[in-house]
Formats: sequence, C-alpha cells, structure tokens
Amino acid sequence: VAAFYQAPVLAGLTAAGFSVQSAVLPPGETTKTLAQAERLYDAMLRADVDRGSIVVALGGGVVTDLAGFVAATYMRGIAWIALPTSLLGQVDASVGGKTAVDHPECKNLVGAFHAPAAVLADVRTLATLPDEELRTGLAEVVKHAVIRDAALMDLVESHTDALLMSDPVTLEEVVARNIRIKVDVVAADEREAGLRRILNYGHTVGHAIAIALLAAGRPTTHGRAVALGMVAEARLAARRGLLDPATVDRLGRLLARLGLPTTLADLPDADRLLDLLRHDKKAEGGRLRFVLPTAVGAVTEVDDVAPQEIRDALATLRV
Ligand SMILES: NC(=O)c1ccc[n+]([C@@H]2O[C@H](COP(=O)([O-])OP(=O)(O)OC[C@H]3O[C@@H](n4cnc5c(N)ncnc54)[C@H](O)[C@@H]3O)[C@@H](O)[C@H]2O)c1
Ligand SMILES: [Zn+2]
Repeated sequence: VAAFYQAPVLAGLTAAGFSVQSAVLPPGETTKTLAQAERLYDAMLRADVDRGSIVVALGGGVVTDLAGFVAATYMRGIAWIALPTSLLGQVDASVGGKTAVDHPECKNLVGAFHAPAAVLADVRTLATLPDEELRTGLAEVVKHAVIRDAALMDLVESHTDALLMSDPVTLEEVVARNIRIKVDVVAADEREAGLRRILNYGHTVGHAIAIALLAAGRPTTHGRAVALGMVAEARLAARRGLLDPATVDRLGRLLARLGLPTTLADLPDADRLLDLLRHDKKAEGGRLRFVLPTAVGAVTEVDDVAPQEIRDALATLRV
C-alpha cells in the first residue's frame, strides 16, 4: 500500500498545508498488536503529535483497526481519518467505529469504539488489490445484500464481471451502497446491543470454520470462510422453513460466480466446529445465537438452534 499510495497522500496533505509524519507497518494480521501500537505511540511522541493532531490511516482493515485504536488511546483519544484501500476496508472495517488490536489468543480482544472523523474510500485504489482480497471484500458485499438490500443483490448479480475486473464505476456504486447499509445499522446500534448483530450473518459458522482450518494447518481467507458460513446458515434457515430453498441456491450461484466456495469436501469435524461455536465470543451464556435470512434483504435472529440442526447444515457443505 505504501509503495502505491503513500507518496500521493503525503504530497496532497503537504500541499494543503499540513505538517505530516508517517510510519509504515509490515502487512498482515500479525501487525495488529499492542507491540505495533506502542511503536506508533513512540513515533507520535517523538513527532510531537498532540491532541490537535489527526491520525490518517491509509491501508486495509488491519491498518484502519490499528491506527484507529492508536488514535482512540493516544492522549485519551485524538481524531482520525480512514483512507481504506481494500474492498473489505471500504465496505466494512473502516465504517462503524470499532477499533482494535489482537491478543495472541483472541482476535480484536483489546479495542475501543472510536469513530473516524471521516472515511474517504477511493475505489481506484482497488485496482492494485490482489484478487483474493477483492473476493474477501465481495463476500462482505453479498452479506450486506442478504441482510439488508435486495436491490444490491440484483446489482451484484448483474455486474459480477465488472466487479471482478475492478471496474471503478460499478465499484463506486457498490461501495457507496454498502457504506450506507453499514452506517444505517451502526447508527441504530453503535454498541451492538441488538440490530448491529445482523452484521454477524455468515460469521458465526464462518469464524468456526476459519479457526478449525487454521488449527489443522490449512488456513483460509476471511471471505472464503464467510461464504461457507453464509451458505450453511442459509441452509439452516431453509431447513427451519424460514427461507425459500431457491434463495439458498441463488446465494450459492452468486458466490460461486464471484470465485467464493460454497462447499468444502474436507470440512473440519462437526464436533470440533460445534465446540468452537459454543465458545464464540458472541455466544451468550453458551446459547448459540444465529442471524438467519428470511428472504434476500431480511434476517431474523434465533437463539434456540439445536446442535443437530447445525450438524445437518454443516453436512450440506461437505458434498
Ligand atoms: N473494525 C471493524 O468493524 C472491522 C470489520 C471487519 C474487519 N475488520 C478487520 O479488518 C482486518 C482485515 O482487513 P483487510 O481484509 O483489509 O486485510 P488487510 O488490511 O490485511 O489487507 C489485505 C492485504 O491487502 C493489501 N492491500 C490493501 N489494500 C491494497 C491495495 N489497494 N493494493 C494492494 N494491496 C493492498 C494489504 O497490505 C494486505 O496485505 C482484520 O483485522 C479484521 O479484524 C474490522
Ligand atoms: Zn467479515
């Protein structure tokens, strides 16, 4: 990201009269740590960053989560602006005010709610984003469509090729629509007391799959895990009579066209996945809570799912 976009951003800010100091961090989730935050506090102190200064986060979700966390905690909180450069960052991570670093045993364990003063998403930066990262962002786009926006589903279906080719006109419309959805949901429930939980669709099962695959030495991407999670949870909904099976097929077809998986022959063992689900940070008192689609654009929350229903839904991924 620095190689592509640091110079123009620095030049723009300097030309606008700002005094700018920058720090470049290694790419990847392993950078989202307290140790890296501390390096930034040191650099900021040396650069005389004060309460009137502004942190500008240029990068994917790792950078916006970390820089946002540093902004939330440095001198008890200073302003920050997000310049997300990944599709996931633009449609999801930079919007909503959640900032965090990871703990060795738990992702996003240490964090704060600290909304950026502004989010500037320039879809032209997505031209350099690796395909696999684009697909991860597209999984979140499909999630937003399923939970909240039937018209977005139509748009993604009719513009699949343009999206996969990073067509800026299509991306701009899709990103803007996604930001609006996330802003709506978060504005209604900033601290995740209720509505915000609908954003977890596909993530309950998806996280369990991601953790189990990682432990088995077969790490997958967030987008791939969420795609499998969305299919499994949609099947669970269909088996309960909440969702038309044709809609599950429609979802699967779209994910496949976007290059995302809908089946996994060597899915980790169901007992292992159930165990992970029970220990999910978001499970309350051991009760398994699921956000299930009832149609494209609508979801309902349930907390009475029996283990056997989950096993059955997982089994459908194994074909
Ligand atoms: N705060 C939230 O609400 C929220 C929501 C979702 C995810 N997240 C967090 O976001 C993180 C994942 O974000 P991500 O998927 O953007 O991963 P990421 O930040 O690691 O970026 C993915 C990769 O793409 C590279 N990259 C980014 N933009 C690029 C560009 N324009 N051109 C070329 N390469 C580019 C990055 O250097 C990195 O190697 C996770 O840590 C997750 O916890 C936070
Ligand atoms: Zn996600």
